[in-house]
Parts: sequence; structure tokens; C-alpha cells
Amino acid sequence: GRGAAMVTAVALRLAALRREVNEVLAPLRLSRADLEKVQALMREEMERGLGKETNATASVRMLPTYVSHTPDGTERGDFLALDLGGTNFRVLVVRVTEEGITMASEIYVIPVSIMQGTGEALFDHIIDCIIDFQTKQNLVTDMLPLGFTFSFPCQQMGLDKALLLTWTKGFSASGCVGQDVVQLLRDAARRMQVVALVNDTVGTMMACGYDDPKCEIGLIVGTGTNACYMEEMRNMGTVEGDQGRMCINMEWGAFGDNGCLDHLFTHFDQVVDQSTINPGKQRFEKLISGMYLGEIVRQILMAMTEKHLLFQGKLSSKLQTKNIFQTKFLSTIELSNGLALRQIQAILNELEIEASFEDSVLLREVCQTVSLRAAQLCAAGLAAVVEKMRENQGLEQLSVTVGVDGTLYKLHPCFSTNLQNTLKDLAPNCNVSFMPSEDGSGKGAALVAAVASRAANAME
Ligand code: GLC
Repeated sequence: GRGAAMVTAVALRLAALRREVNEVLAPLRLSRADLEKVQALMREEMERGLGKETNATASVRMLPTYVSHTPDGTERGDFLALDLGGTNFRVLVVRVTEEGITMASEIYVIPVSIMQGTGEALFDHIIDCIIDFQTKQNLVTDMLPLGFTFSFPCQQMGLDKALLLTWTKGFSASGCVGQDVVQLLRDAARRMQVVALVNDTVGTMMACGYDDPKCEIGLIVGTGTNACYMEEMRNMGTVEGDQGRMCINMEWGAFGDNGCLDHLFTHFDQVVDQSTINPGKQRFEKLISGMYLGEIVRQILMAMTEKHLLFQGKLSSKLQTKNIFQTKFLSTIELSNGLALRQIQAILNELEIEASFEDSVLLREVCQTVSLRAAQLCAAGLAAVVEKMRENQGLEQLSVTVGVDGTLYKLHPCFSTNLQNTLKDLAPNCNVSFMPSEDGSGKGAALVAAVASRAANAME
């Protein structure tokens, strides 16, 4: 009868919608074969980055860090530490004693006008913050050795000499690229004893390495993404010497900048890339990290609305505003389950969107698709790293710990689980544990500074 006909009509309409939704999302869904290919490409780029002749053209730069050991527990001293390049700028005082590590810190804001102004203004601002911190902590009279966690790609010539190769993550202060960042800091404040500069991945690995000797990898999934690991000197064509090991700052965020991942980029990824201050750069990072996921979701929502798959085809002007969809929304949205979709409604209200129950469910699916892809890609990269370490050591089975930090990894409800499950699948011969770091950047910088100042004292 008529009832049955109507039911059939509704079912057909739903099936058609589903087909259209799947069409939009299909390019973002990666198969096992896709991920294996990413893993193999990462491995190739790693080899190219390590090779003397091939380094210049590799998208993964595999930068030497001059950190040759993870901590052994004998590090001691009081240090200042700076942490620049994540969500916040922080100044810390770190005490490394026999009993362990204690610290105090302050967060300072770096306004976009300074991030994207002159290098001079940026470093003056940093010094102002340090002086404010020293005053608050009663440290003005001590001249503590300083470790600098600087989370950007640097060509290091030693622990305390680091040329900035390029800015990433929304920084563009002029007059810094090509300069020694340690010198820029020293120039801004004569009375500063800067002893070591480390990438945040290295700081994180060192901080976790202090508690777990098996920690030989550092991973960041926050505003940006990157990894470091302990490599054999004999495999590094870019540094003198064949003995021992050195930590490599991979700078994997730039993976794909030479076109090797072009087959993966969707229309949404292209649009997001083109709207950044560094189009064509940090392409892997732009698929994974917190600075970009919200924008990818927003692009998909706009496309779906235009196709009348969402919000009855009504695009609010808010939704058309760049960066309005924060990555922390993904966490909230994916956390809400079938019965508690109210939080989704709250976010949508903020975006001035009227949404039905079905809209909320679809929105959650979009977020899940984008964050799952990010976690899987990150796992494919990590699989290449652990497999290389396993081969380096000639082991059948490798057991290793990854020190990890970053807002996306720590705050998103499924990212870490998805990452770990995919990694198990792609690197079955590696037994990988993850150790979230606490204040890794500050602790790590202090631990490296301890080693550096010990070496300096030994030479005197
Ligand atoms: C960007 C930086 C890199 C840093 C990462 C995480 O990729 O280039 O140096 O480690 O972000 O903060």
C-alpha cells in the first residue's frame, strides 16, 4: 500500500544521501595498501635524508642534533629553559638533583604581530619574558645555564650552534632564516649563558628517557608534528665519524614537499594548504597536526552543505570564516556518544548553525574520518622509524619506547588508540610503548644543557 511505498521512498532517499556522503569522504579513507605505501615512501625519504649526496633533495631532512646519548641519571644542576614553537611560549627553571627533577614555569603569549614581525622584536620579546620570569622567581642574580627548546628545523653545527632553515607553523619573523638562533638570543641579551638548543622532539625523548632507558624516539603531535630517534653514526653520511649514535631530528612534517605524497592529497587538503602562510610546505604536517585538522573539517562541512547533505544546505557566514573550527572541537565532537549529542549542538550553536540530529551524526563522522586519517598517517611514519631501528640493531623483535607530547595526542579521545593500533598492524615485529611526557620540552632542554655544561666544565 501507500505506507510501504513511502517507506521505500525514504529508504531510497537515505541510500542516495549515504552514497553522496561516501563519495565526499572516500578520498580521505586510507586502505592498508595506502598506508604501507606511505611507510615505504617515508623509509625511502629517510635514507635519502641520511645520505651525503641525496640529503639536499630529500623532503625529510634528517637533521643531526649533536645529542649522542639519552640520559643516564647522573645529570645535575639548575637550569633555565625556554620552550618556543608550540601552543605557548614558556620560561622554566629546572632543578635536576639526585632526588629527581623539579621545576617552575610561566606561560607567556606571543602575539601574532610578533610571530610574524621582525626577528629583532621576537627576540627582544623573549628576553623581556625571561627577565620577568627571573624577577618573579628571584633568579636575577644567578646566571643559570640556559637550554632552549626551539621547535623549528635547524641545521645544527653543535649543541649551541643552530641555523634556522625555515619557519613553520605560522611563524615568519624576518631576518632569522639562515641565522644562528643561539647567537640571535645571545645578541638580544649579553648576560645569558645559552649552552644548548634542542628540538621539542628531542626534548621529549630526553625527558622520557630519564625515566625509561628504552625511550629512543620522540614524537610530537600538537600544533605541528615531527619525530626524532637514535640513529647509528655509520648510517649518517652528513656528519663526520662512524662510531656511536646520534639523535636525528627527522623534520617529517615536510615529508611530501617534493611531490611524493601528491596521490594522497584531497581537494580539501589542497585548499587548506593554499590558505596557509607556507603553501606547498609541511604537507605531511598539514594532514596530521592540530593547526590544520579543524580547517580540513571546515572545508568538508562547507562542501557537504553546498551539496545539501548537511544543515539543509544553509551555510552560515561563521562557518565560512577561516580557523573558526578549532581542532579541540574534534575532540569534543568525537567524545559525544549517541545519547549525548548535546555538546555537538552547543558547538554548532556557537557557529550559528541550526542542526538536526542527523546533521550532528554526520558531523561526527566527518571529524572521525579526518582524525583517523591523521593517526594512521602518523603511524605509517612511525612504522618506518621503528622498522629501521630494528634493522639497524639486527633484531628479530624490537622493544622500544616513544616519548610523546602535543595537544592532539594528549587531548583527543581516539587519536592515540588509533595510532597505536595502526602501528601494531604495520610493524608487527616491533613492540612499541608510548610514554606521554610531562613538561618534556623544559625537562629535556635542561637535561641536554646539563650534559653540555658538564662537557664545557671538563674542558676548562
Ligand atoms: C614543526 C617544526 C618541528 C617541530 C614540530 C612539532 O614541524 O618544524 O621542528 O618539531 O613542528 O612542534
